[in-house]
Amino acid sequence: MVQRRIPRYRDLAPLMNFKTPELNAKRRRLDGALTIWDLQKIAQRRTPRAAFDYTEGAAEAEISLKRARQAFEDIQFTPSILRDVSTVSTGWDVLGAPVSFPFGIAPTGFTRMMQTEGEVAGAGAAAAAGIPFSLSTMGTTSIEDVKAVNPNGRNWFQLYMWKDRDRSMALVDRAAKAGFDTLLVTVDVPVAGARLRDKRNGFSIPPQLTAGTVLNALPRPEWWINFLTTEPLAFASLDRWSGTVGELLDTMFDPTVTFEDLAWIKAQWPGKVVVKGVQNLDDARKLATMGIDGITLSNHGGRQLDRAPIPFHLLPDVAREVGSDMEVHLDTGIMSGADIVASIALGARFTMIGRAYLYGLMAGGREGVDRTISILSEQIIRTMRLLGVTSLEELTPAHVVQLERLVPRAVSPSAVAAAEPAAARPRARKAAAKVAADVTATVIETTTAKAAAPQNTAPKTPAAKTPTTRAPRTAPAAKV
Ligand SMILES: Cc1cc2nc3c(=O)[nH]c(=O)nc-3n(C[C@H](O)[C@H](O)[C@H](O)COP(=O)(O)O)c2cc1C
Repeated sequence: MVQRRIPRYRDLAPLMNFKTPELNAKRRRLDGALTIWDLQKIAQRRTPRAAFDYTEGAAEAEISLKRARQAFEDIQFTPSILRDVSTVSTGWDVLGAPVSFPFGIAPTGFTRMMQTEGEVAGAGAAAAAGIPFSLSTMGTTSIEDVKAVNPNGRNWFQLYMWKDRDRSMALVDRAAKAGFDTLLVTVDVPVAGARLRDKRNGFSIPPQLTAGTVLNALPRPEWWINFLTTEPLAFASLDRWSGTVGELLDTMFDPTVTFEDLAWIKAQWPGKVVVKGVQNLDDARKLATMGIDGITLSNHGGRQLDRAPIPFHLLPDVAREVGSDMEVHLDTGIMSGADIVASIALGARFTMIGRAYLYGLMAGGREGVDRTISILSEQIIRTMRLLGVTSLEELTPAHVVQLERLVPRAVSPSAVAAAEPAAARPRARKAAAKVAADVTATVIETTTAKAAAPQNTAPKTPAAKTPTTRAPRTAPAAKV
């Protein structure tokens, strides 16, 4: 029988630990975001649909982006136990200079449209965290203004080669003069990818006020107040433009750029050169022979070629083949610090975040970007500790298993033809026998005859397996 009594004050007092409520709504909102996915939800609530979709969307059916994120979800970590992980070091050198964490902010175009603070918020947050900030050719803040916000930190300039090469190189020259230390040459945009969301939304630059946009604006007044009461939205390095981003890319960008042009660009840049958008091993090898300082395995966040290779899956082979000649960086799909840790373990020297940064920006301007960085940093530190490592150097491929879903399998047509039909496999034979017992002897005869047919006796080879979309069932992680 339970004995009950009147609660005494001295028992209740320790339970009554009321916190002073956070009065600042933005702080409350951002503190409540525990993951990048949480920031994404806040961003969506606060940003007009066309601007959010421009950021969130990818090309065509958006398969590249989904797969890249899926590949990170399909990581299984292998931790080591009983290590002293009281202190963890998350920094090392990237392209010859230190970074506090192995990630930086990727170049994004038209950033002030997502939230009016734009690149200033990104560069300021990067400076405070000791990570590099990349400014896009399509940026909405000038090279000099970014430098002013991040005067002592690392700024990288991203180059799209235009048809007007003199003007492109004039920008490169300005970035060099402003002390940007790295040139990111983006090579995966010979033409614009098909961003169908933008077409469906009738999205254009600058955003147009239509009946639809006004209606959509009603629950998002802060974005519109910012938009209408701050510096007009424009590309900092380009003339004014009126049309979709795709039309702009196709009008301005040069689809004839080749490896020779890259060598020409490299010769004019005094700092480090990273080629962004590498998507196969042969290209990586070729770039290594050219003396390029680094490559970014990237499919542009899925915004260019749909069904493109998954950068995270390319990583182990590329790192093994060219990782000692030049740095291998990676982006596309990163939504967690654990994704970054896994990338480092599989051979990346550095990673970049596009949308994760923009979600923070849309959720709360500069403070929102700070929140993105703090979420990722905490996740990196926690993952490293739980893996039993205290520095990035200790991470090895042995820490990561890529579960089978989405891994490309080499299945030749002849292997498929030689594969055993389902009916001949031991399990199927058993099931067929069970059914046969209930039916007739004729059925048993047919099944046996099929099992004896020549094509069923072909030896099983790994290549003969049909591609699977399921994770291996034996994975210990599946048991948790
Ligand atoms: C809204 C948006 C604009 C982008 N603009 C550029 C750009 O101007 N130049 C560039 O090289 N990459 C650009 N990217 C690609 C990013 O640099 C990066 O490769 C990509 O966002 C990484 O994928 P993630 O968003 O999943 O992190 C853009 C990406 C987004 C989402």
